[in-house]
Amino acid sequence: MSETLLDVEERQDELAFPATLPVLPLKDTVVFPESVTPLAIGQERSIKLVEDVVSGDRMLALVTVKNPEEEQPGWDDLYTVGTGAVIHKMIKVPDGTLRILVQGVKRIGLDRPVQDDPYLVGEFVELPDEVKDTPEVEALTRNVQNLFGRVIGLVPYLPEELQIAAANVDDPSALCNLVASTLRLKTEEKQRLLELTNVEERLRQISAILNRELEVFELGSKIQSQVQEEMEKGQREFFLRQQLKAIQDELGEGDADQAEVNELRSRLDELELPEDARKAAERELARLEKLPSAAAEHGVIRTYLDWLVSLPWSKTTEDNLDLQHARQVLDEDHFDLEKVKERILEHLAVSKLKNDLSGPILCFVGPPGVGKTSLGQSIGRALGRKFARLSVGGVRDEAEIRGHRRTYIGAMPGTIIRTLRDAESINPVMLIDEIDKMGADFRGDPASAMLEVLDPEQNKNFRDHYLDLPFDLSKVLFICTANTLDTIPTPLLDRMDVIQLSGYTEDEKFGIAKRYLLPKQLEAHGLDEDRVKVTDKALRRIIREYTREAGVRNLERRLADVLRKAARQIAEGKTRAKTLRVDERRLRSWLGPRRFEGEVRKRTSDPGVATGLAFTAVGGDVLFIEATAYPGKGRLTITGQLGDVMQESAQTALSWVRAHADQLGVDPTWFQENDVHVHVPAGAVPKDGPSAGITMATAIASLVLGQPVSDDVGMTGEITLTGQVLPIGGVREKVLAAERAGLKRVILPRDNEPDLEELPPETKRELTFVPVDTIDQVLDAALEQTGRTNDRQDERQVNLKVASSRSHARVSPPGS
Ligand SMILES: Nc1ncnc2c1ncn2[C@@H]1O[C@H](COP(=O)(O)OP(=O)(O)O)[C@@H](O)[C@H]1O
Ligand SMILES: [Mg+2]
Repeated sequence: MSETLLDVEERQDELAFPATLPVLPLKDTVVFPESVTPLAIGQERSIKLVEDVVSGDRMLALVTVKNPEEEQPGWDDLYTVGTGAVIHKMIKVPDGTLRILVQGVKRIGLDRPVQDDPYLVGEFVELPDEVKDTPEVEALTRNVQNLFGRVIGLVPYLPEELQIAAANVDDPSALCNLVASTLRLKTEEKQRLLELTNVEERLRQISAILNRELEVFELGSKIQSQVQEEMEKGQREFFLRQQLKAIQDELGEGDADQAEVNELRSRLDELELPEDARKAAERELARLEKLPSAAAEHGVIRTYLDWLVSLPWSKTTEDNLDLQHARQVLDEDHFDLEKVKERILEHLAVSKLKNDLSGPILCFVGPPGVGKTSLGQSIGRALGRKFARLSVGGVRDEAEIRGHRRTYIGAMPGTIIRTLRDAESINPVMLIDEIDKMGADFRGDPASAMLEVLDPEQNKNFRDHYLDLPFDLSKVLFICTANTLDTIPTPLLDRMDVIQLSGYTEDEKFGIAKRYLLPKQLEAHGLDEDRVKVTDKALRRIIREYTREAGVRNLERRLADVLRKAARQIAEGKTRAKTLRVDERRLRSWLGPRRFEGEVRKRTSDPGVATGLAFTAVGGDVLFIEATAYPGKGRLTITGQLGDVMQESAQTALSWVRAHADQLGVDPTWFQENDVHVHVPAGAVPKDGPSAGITMATAIASLVLGQPVSDDVGMTGEITLTGQVLPIGGVREKVLAAERAGLKRVILPRDNEPDLEELPPETKRELTFVPVDTIDQVLDAALEQTGRTNDRQDERQVNLKVASSRSHARVSPPGS
């Protein structure tokens, strides 16, 4: 823009009224006194007017046009109140138009038009402001100053410097002019303010306007900042999404999110979900859709939904309730176990009649390796149901059963729901293994959660913490297994139909091995009977010399050991025979020296050690009780982690022997000079119960008499102070343990004689049973019968001497 600058002198003071002034019509603006305003002049008659004014006294009247549309406004189109002004500067723009800078001087009113051409000229009178110096005006002035200050702070188009100007303008009318000229108001509004002669009124109106403006601006800025925020957020998210999309595209996973949601939705649609679950799924799906996949919450919801869709909400298998078929399956999988199979079939028959399998829960109790788990599996197979095994041994935390709430990091459903998912059916046979080994601690009581699971009243709406939805467990057929009933909480036990399984005899094991385990293991090793033949003698040897257990678990392992070696020989081409024979000789070289042999003989070679028979969670077992003595005052020390009952048994045994010293032929002073120590080895295993009573008495008697206990005898029985022998439990398991240990005779309470009838025939053949009523009879049978039948007294006197010397010899008192 090339410009011509024309400076003019300031001559506003010379303005005298009434005066004749050329009229410059203003469109869309009002010029107030004291304000300096730039104006663009484009109309030809206005250009002429300005040029004339500038070359004259530079004074003119600025009057606003009522209707800005009017091209050539005449007198009627103008307001009658305007501003007398002086042109300060004029710039000629090359396109022929002008820019002028005018300063308002005074408010003026049109008195009468003077001329129309070439531009309007009129006669004007001054309109002086009416100001009263009242407190109201003062207050209003301050108020306007204050409000205006705030408006300047808010409004972007007002420069901050105005603050200072506003603060320094004390004159009410000057203030009004400043505010009115700087604010962006409607032209009519400005005109109205200009026309107000009364300054107080003008202040009031300006206050109102300022208040209104403030409100609008505050609201506006609030909206603005919200919009800004939204926009920033939106932009940020948009930006991130674009980036993510670019990354996904790069990885070939474009639109994976939506595809994921769609897939979940279609999987959900295919499922027959209960109402609650459906609602929860919809809700979570909606949340998932809204969340960007990078959000942590996204993964959590995704996992939850994955769980929902993977559960068998309504998937069932059809039951086969044909008892004939069930019998067949049970026989196919298990040797003998007649009574157990009968019980199972009875249980299934009742369920069939009631058309409800959720009745009492079967619980198999017995030592390890007797087929509890595999029976459960067979039942599943017989019924044509899926089978799921769930081990709760060692579970102490309720959350393991019932899951963690979703608020936990890495939360998962509990083992019940997890197992059901794996079973892929809502009505599997679920075997809860080792329910007797479930513990409880500060993390809650898993047993009570289990109770809820097993209770047909409650399990229709089982609530897992993670799912947080009711899940129907009522169609599951639960079967429990345990080694012992002692540690199962009573409320759980009450719900159960207990089936006892006992250990196997050697013959039974042989049968199981030959008919079931061996074929199974041959197949597992890719062999068959034509390639490898394990002789019957070798099989018996494995049972007798390489395992000692109630069940057949280790037997199966040893067989696997043997077959692995056989497979290797065949694979390496080391055998030329068509069939590899595994006989006793080969067994020895493959399995190494026998593991269990002659233990009883070794242990009982010295006086003071007696062989007891115990019934534990792992079945029957032999238990050695040792007694020794050293100089003292007749005190008793007991070690080996014995329970209270067993400790009392030891006391009773000692008291009886002491009380009957005379009769036994022991010098009564022996007890005043010696202390007795009774120990039951395998100290890490807690032991309790009264049935070791006669064994303890025998060990002590053997010690004081110096006579070893026979190495072919095992015993069990409770003892009273008067020497009576009381009946005990677990006879079958104990007898089987005696057989396994290679014993020949079993001493047991006479009252237990009926239990013997239950024993397998070959066991009855193998062993001699010595029923007893009193401890006397026990000692007669147990202590080595070196001619004791004749002159007892003498024998014992002799023995006593041996006993004293030997017992002293065995102990080295401290310092000796
Ligand atoms: N009576 C039996 N007939 C055939 N196999 C048996 C018999 N008892 C146990 N077994 C086998 O012995 C192994 C161990 O049995 P398992 O069921 O695990 O015992 P448990 O659960 O009582 O500890 C399994 O391979 C099982 O099939
Ligand atoms: Mg098991």
